Amino acid sequence: MKLPSHLSIQNQHLIIGGCDTVKLAFTHGTPLYVTDETRIRDNYRRYVSVLSAHYPHFRILYAAKANGNLSILKILAQEGAGADVFSAGELHFALLAGMRPEHLLFNGSSKTEADHKLAVSKGVRVSLDSLDELAQLDLVAGEAGKVAEVSFRVNPAIEVPTHPKIATGLATSKFGIPAAEITDAYAAALACKNVVPVGIHCHIGSQILDTEPFKREAEVMMELVDELHRMGVKFKFIDLGGGLGVSYDHSESGPDAPTFENYASAVLPVCKSVLGRLGIQPEIWIEPGRSMVCDSTVLLTKVNSVKKAHKTFVNVDAGFNLLIRPAMYDSYHEVLVANRADEKPDGIYTVTGPICETGDILAHDRELPHVVSGDLVAILDTGAYGYSMASQYNGRGRCAEVLVRNGQAELMRRAETIDDLMATLKTPSWLD
Ligand code: LLP
Repeated sequence: MKLPSHLSIQNQHLIIGGCDTVKLAFTHGTPLYVTDETRIRDNYRRYVSVLSAHYPHFRILYAAKANGNLSILKILAQEGAGADVFSAGELHFALLAGMRPEHLLFNGSSKTEADHKLAVSKGVRVSLDSLDELAQLDLVAGEAGKVAEVSFRVNPAIEVPTHPKIATGLATSKFGIPAAEITDAYAAALACKNVVPVGIHCHIGSQILDTEPFKREAEVMMELVDELHRMGVKFKFIDLGGGLGVSYDHSESGPDAPTFENYASAVLPVCKSVLGRLGIQPEIWIEPGRSMVCDSTVLLTKVNSVKKAHKTFVNVDAGFNLLIRPAMYDSYHEVLVANRADEKPDGIYTVTGPICETGDILAHDRELPHVVSGDLVAILDTGAYGYSMASQYNGRGRCAEVLVRNGQAELMRRAETIDDLMATLKTPSWLD
């Protein structure tokens, strides 16, 4: 395995952010998510450097759903990022982290009246997903005596090479308004008293390892911008969404993900040529989640037992309660034995969690060094959609998260206890 450049091995131990994973596991217990702050800052700065080389008026709205820990949001807020928020909770956390309201976009296909009220009261723009939402927001903004700035989410009907559960811009997807109906939607918005359309939004899916669909998306979007500009829409932003994939397979034969530069040079020239022709310079927004935080994090999990059956099972203390991606999308994450990280493989192992389901398998048939109980397994590239999709299934509290930076390590979330599992429970009177 080619170890990513920000991870290393010293005295047989896996090192992240200058910290020894074996010591981190000893100090904080397992399972444990460990995130390297420097890697996130580097990823953000690489994005800024390639985007600014193409087009100066851009903004990065980090997709908070990928990893919504307040510390992660603070790091990105310090770097200057805004956020794509998909719920009242994500909106609150982004503001708490120090992001400015005008740098947020409230996305979602099923917002409540309370969501609209929150966006209006905080001055956060809304990406509308239906004409029903337009009417509801118009009412809410009118009641508040405000004018809400909005975009519509476009469904561009683009096939993308990714897992079907995370393709979001197919003609059959639940998201967005079909491109052919978009001008009617904007005409309706222009006719509203308390809503003004200032942007356009799209997101075609996630973990996309080819830049061609992004280019096609940009073409569809810019054709619409051209038409809508002529209809009188004054664009402040064009939001192309997120979706750029990452390399999870670090073997010699694993596919390389497109670089940020590959992405920018596929997409931005399409936008620039139309904007140049129209003589306008709205901001271009992107909403990266995975490509910003995925490689920053490892999940450390201890081996409880090793069992030889029809396969050799390595039973660890993290399961799909903490990392659901392999069970949900058959996704691949590299695993290594963190306390003997450069030892040669001696067999084929299947890494399984403690959850009471056959599908609780984190890694199938991997070559690993001789594994015994007490070993520490590291699961790589778990910074995106790892903790953020964790649950308390099987009565298991979620684990702690540690932030590391140049050899320093501190908790950014403690582990949940049995008391935390009890905290929200009520007992109906007739059961007392
Ligand atoms: N913008 C919108 C409107 C989104 O819905 C998403 C992700 C993003 C941006 C960020 O996409 P990214 O750059 O992270 O690909 N749980 C799945 C991924 C679901 C993505 C949902 N939307 C997984 O673990 O693969």
